[in-house]
Amino acid sequence: MTRKPIIAGNWKMNNTVADTRDAVRKLVPLVNDSVDVDIVVCPPFTSLAAAVDAAESSNISVGAQNVHWEEKGAYTGEISVKMLIELNVAYAVVGHSERRQYFGETDVNVNRRLHASLQAGLIPIVCVGETLEQRRSGEMEAVITGQIRVCLDKVSADRMCGTVIAYEPVWAIGTGVTATPEQAQEVHSLIRRLLRESYDDTTAETVRIQYGGSVKSSNINDLMSQPDIDGALVGGASLVPDEFGDLIKKAVDN
Ligand code: PGA
Repeated sequence: MTRKPIIAGNWKMNNTVADTRDAVRKLVPLVNDSVDVDIVVCPPFTSLAAAVDAAESSNISVGAQNVHWEEKGAYTGEISVKMLIELNVAYAVVGHSERRQYFGETDVNVNRRLHASLQAGLIPIVCVGETLEQRRSGEMEAVITGQIRVCLDKVSADRMCGTVIAYEPVWAIGTGVTATPEQAQEVHSLIRRLLRESYDDTTAETVRIQYGGSVKSSNINDLMSQPDIDGALVGGASLVPDEFGDLIKKAVDN
C-alpha cells in the first residue's frame, strides 16, 4: 500500500503574526509543485488565523500545537477543537514531548485530546518517543508500546486510519542528533506491528507514521527511504522557509 507522505513543521513558541505571514508567503511558491505530499505548518495559537489566511488557495494546511478535550469551560490557557475548526485549522499535534516534559501531559490526557480531535474532524498528529535513559536501559520497546496502547485507547479502526503518528525520540529533538534511518525504521516497524495487533493489516498499512527529531533537508531523503517512514515532524528546520521548502521537495524526491 502506498501512503501519501506528510511533512509538518512544528514552529513551537516561534513566529509572531507578522513572522508567520512572512514565512507562509515565502513557503507557498517554494512548494506549490509538491503535490504528492501533505504539507502542514503548526504555528502558535496566536498565529493560526494569519497562517490560514496566508496559506489560502495553496497546498499548505495549518495545524495547532495542542488542543483541549473539553468543548468549553474553566480551563485557563486551553483551546478547544471548536475554536480551531472555526479558524479552518485542519490538524492538531497532541502529546509532543515538550508538552509531556514541561507541562505534565500524560498518555491519558493525550488520548482525550486525540478523541476530541477525531470527533470534530481535526486530524491528530500523536507524538510518542523514548528518552535517552529509557533507550540506554533497554526500555525503548516497552515505553513505545505503553504510549501507543494508552494514547490510542478506544480509537476505532476507521478513525485510526485518519490519525497520524509521530515517532520522536526525545534525545533527537533539538539536539542535532538524528536517529539513524535504521534506528527510526526499527521503531516505526514496531509501531506498525502494534497497530496490526490492535487493529488489522489494512489499518496498520494505512496509518502514516512520521519521524521527528533533528530532521533537515540533508537527512530527510535517507529517512524517507525506509519502508515505514511516511514523513516528518520538523522543528528547527521548518522555521526557515528555504530550508523547509527544500526539505519538502527532497522528501518526495526518491
Ligand atoms: P527538531 O524538533 O526538528 O528541532 O529536532 C522536532 C520536534 O520537536 O517536533
